[in-house]
Amino acid sequence: MARDAKVHSHKREQWSGQAGFILAAIGSAVGLGNIWRFPGVAYENGGGAFLLPYLVALITAGIPILFVDYALGHRFRGSPPAVFRRIRKRAEMLGWFQVAICFVIILYYAVIIAWAGSYAVFSLTTAWGDDAAGFFVGEFIKLPENPDLQFSVVSSVALPLVAVWAVTIVILALGVQRGLEKANLFFIPLLAVLFTALVVRSLFLDGAIDGLNAFFTPNWGALADPGVWLAAYAQIFFSLSIAFGIMLTYSSYLKKKSNLTGTGLVVAFSNSSFEILAGIGVFSALGFMAQAQGVAVGELENITGVMLSFVTFPTLVASMPGGPIFGFLFFASLTVAGLTSLLSLLQVVSGAFQDKFGFSARRSAITIGVVAAVLSFTFFARPDGLHTLDVVDKWTNEVGIVGSAIVMLVLLLSLGQLRTLSQHINAHSSFTVGRIWTVLVGVVVPAVLLWMFISGVINLLSEPYEGYPNWYNNLFGWGSIALMLVLAGTFSLIRWRRPIDEFTPEPTLPGEKIYARAGGAHRGKDES
Ligand code: ALA
Repeated sequence: MARDAKVHSHKREQWSGQAGFILAAIGSAVGLGNIWRFPGVAYENGGGAFLLPYLVALITAGIPILFVDYALGHRFRGSPPAVFRRIRKRAEMLGWFQVAICFVIILYYAVIIAWAGSYAVFSLTTAWGDDAAGFFVGEFIKLPENPDLQFSVVSSVALPLVAVWAVTIVILALGVQRGLEKANLFFIPLLAVLFTALVVRSLFLDGAIDGLNAFFTPNWGALADPGVWLAAYAQIFFSLSIAFGIMLTYSSYLKKKSNLTGTGLVVAFSNSSFEILAGIGVFSALGFMAQAQGVAVGELENITGVMLSFVTFPTLVASMPGGPIFGFLFFASLTVAGLTSLLSLLQVVSGAFQDKFGFSARRSAITIGVVAAVLSFTFFARPDGLHTLDVVDKWTNEVGIVGSAIVMLVLLLSLGQLRTLSQHINAHSSFTVGRIWTVLVGVVVPAVLLWMFISGVINLLSEPYEGYPNWYNNLFGWGSIALMLVLAGTFSLIRWRRPIDEFTPEPTLPGEKIYARAGGAHRGKDES
């Protein structure tokens, strides 16, 4: 095959090198999902025994789909709509569906970061006194008892939310190298320092060992429960930022000579290490709290999700020596981890607008950032925002992301793209993928996901989620999915302002190597 195939793409921004890309990808993966989601999910789903399904999910679906995302972005050089359109015109809608998923997540993700930022400051004076639950629910977010549709902005959330949006928009407006890369270069080492200090401090608390026992003591019986396996796969998808456009977009800014699987493995293992470390830190602290209250760790209330971070941790901070510093480390870590993931979510939307409408990075970041900011204020900074985000998050993860992954993999299989993608990966990687990868992403993972998807939907239809009224779950849950579909359909019908269809990806030959490794780029027939 000739190597001079026509490559038509506008001047696309690039990472300065692989290190910049790896830091940004770790920044995207390590987020709110790692710090407050993972420990609670693991605890609820068998404790130590959860690590087994978690690792199986990481190896059978997480890493293989991460490679799919990397190969798509790197080969077709675009945001999701451009990539899928370059594969098949009609598939552009799937790309916009992934963009819409990111857009919806952004709206509530920013609000949680704003809460975390406020709590980092509150920690210094333990502003919640001895009633953390009353402070969070009653004073801070002013949550009504029952879900409602009252639209007003909670004043305590307004200022931090403006700050979150201002920082995000400014960083994205600076572009990939000057904005995203530099921000991650600053934030990721900072996060590593903050979080290591937090975990080390937790390990030295009285009772830490009881918490670790609760976290790691396996409940093997849980492995027979399909729900535990579903939880493991769902956690891996959200946490690794795969199958909804993020890693695909980030890899589209990689230089041609890049090592796809090598960088992918670094990102996947860093993310999981961080996640397990979060479990260790959080449960050591819970062990301390349980000992102080004279109860078993399993008897503590609110040890998952939003309540773990914003009620249980503050209670702990108020009762431990050096609590304010501990609280600051926890909430600052949550803020920084969330911010770097928010940047990646918004970059998916911003990149899609740059590709399709020819917007500059600045125009795209400002336009989309302002629209998203207004919507996040409208829907999630209102008193009932916590209930709304709970519902939207559930549907987005279990219906939106899982649905997107199934359609993407089935599409690639049916269009015969998996062979081409594996060739592309192998030409651009130190570690090659073989038949097992193709079978996993073409058959096993879509089958497992379909099963997850169907049982998830049946569950959502058969009992009202969290006991919320049906109208509420329908409006915000199914309504979000409907909105994503409408946005996807509408945007895929609009005319492209930039050349798109004349793109031809550069062919790669079986056994060829075009990858970057330490000491410089390497090209030529694989000698191994
Ligand atoms: N991967 C990001 C997280 O874990 C979205 O929060």
